Amino acid sequence: MAVLGCGLMGSALARRFAAGGLAVTAWNRTPHRAEALAADGVRPSASVAEAVGEAGLVVVCLSDIDGARGALESAPSLAGLTVVNLSDGTHDDVETLAQWLGERGASFLDGATFCYPEQIGEPSAMLVFSGSAQVWAAHEPTLMLLGGRSRHVSDDISGAKGLYLGSGAFFVTALAGFVESTACLLQRGHTLEEIRDTTLYGLELLRHATEEVAAAIESGRHETDQATIHVFADGARKVLGELQSADVDSSVMAAVSRKLDAAEHAGLGHLGYSAQSLL
Ligand SMILES: NC(=O)c1ccc[n+]([C@@H]2O[C@H](COP(=O)([O-])OP(=O)(O)OC[C@H]3O[C@@H](n4cnc5c(N)ncnc54)[C@H](OP(=O)(O)O)[C@@H]3O)[C@@H](O)[C@H]2O)c1
Repeated sequence: MAVLGCGLMGSALARRFAAGGLAVTAWNRTPHRAEALAADGVRPSASVAEAVGEAGLVVVCLSDIDGARGALESAPSLAGLTVVNLSDGTHDDVETLAQWLGERGASFLDGATFCYPEQIGEPSAMLVFSGSAQVWAAHEPTLMLLGGRSRHVSDDISGAKGLYLGSGAFFVTALAGFVESTACLLQRGHTLEEIRDTTLYGLELLRHATEEVAAAIESGRHETDQATIHVFADGARKVLGELQSADVDSSVMAAVSRKLDAAEHAGLGHLGYSAQSLL
C-alpha cells in the first residue's frame, strides 16, 4: 500500500500501517519527510508514480483535497486502485474528487480523522469513512488499524466530511473558549491543579448538557425548568467582564455573549440554551 503525504498526520498513518505488518511505500512533496520514515519500516518513494505503482490501496493525507488531486494527477494510471482520502475539504471538493477518480477507474473512500497523530492506532482513536460499503468491507481490516473506534458512517461519499466539519463547530470553539478561560485563570493566579479539577468537572457537565441540547434541537422543544437564556446571558456578560479585566483576549467569549444577547432580543430569553438554534 502507499501513503501520500508525510506531514504530522500522514507520517503517523504510515508508521501505523507498517507497524501493523503491511508493506508501506510513502511519498511526500518534500522528500526528507518520507525518508525520515525509513527507520519505522516505511519505504520512501521519490515519486507518486512509483509509490502508487503496485500499491492497490493508496491513502492520501495532504493539507487539502486540491493538493491531493494534484499529487494523484502525476500518477500515469489510477485504474484499479482504491484511494482513501484523509485530506481536508468541503462536500463539493469530495464530490468533485469522487467524480474525477471514477472517470479514471479508481475506487474511492473519503474519510476524516477525529484524533491527533499520537492517538493513531489506539483503541480509543476514531476515524470515519464514507463511500461504497463494498469498498469499505474490502479495506476495513487495514483501515481499522488506525483507530479502534473507527467506522464506516455513510454510503454517501461526502458523509464522513460532513460529520467532521459539523462536529468541528463544537470541538474547535470549545477549545478556543478553553484557551481564553485558562489564560484568565492563570493570570488571576489559579493553579493548573485547580484548572484541571474544574475542567474535568465541566466536561462531565458538558456531556449532560450536550445530550439535552441535542434532544431539544431535534424535538423543537426548548422549554426549561433548569436555566433560561436570560440567566446564561447575564452570566456571560459577567464572564466577559472578568476576561477583559484580566486583560486576556476574549473574542470567543464576546461572540458567545453577543449571541445570547441576540437571543434575548429575539424574545427567547425564557427558553433553554438550545433555543439559540432558532436565531
Ligand atoms: N494533525 C492533526 O492533528 C490532524 C487531525 C485531523 C485532521 N488532520 C488533517 O490531516 C491533513 C494533514 O494534516 P497534517 O497535520 O499532517 O498537516 P501538515 O503536518 O501540515 O502536513 C501537510 C502535508 O501536506 C503536504 N502538502 C500540502 N500542500 C501540498 C501540495 N499542494 N502538494 C503536495 N503536498 C502538499 C505537505 O507536504 P510538504 O511536507 O512538502 O509541505 C505535508 O505532507 C489535513 O487535512 C488536516 O486537516 C490533521
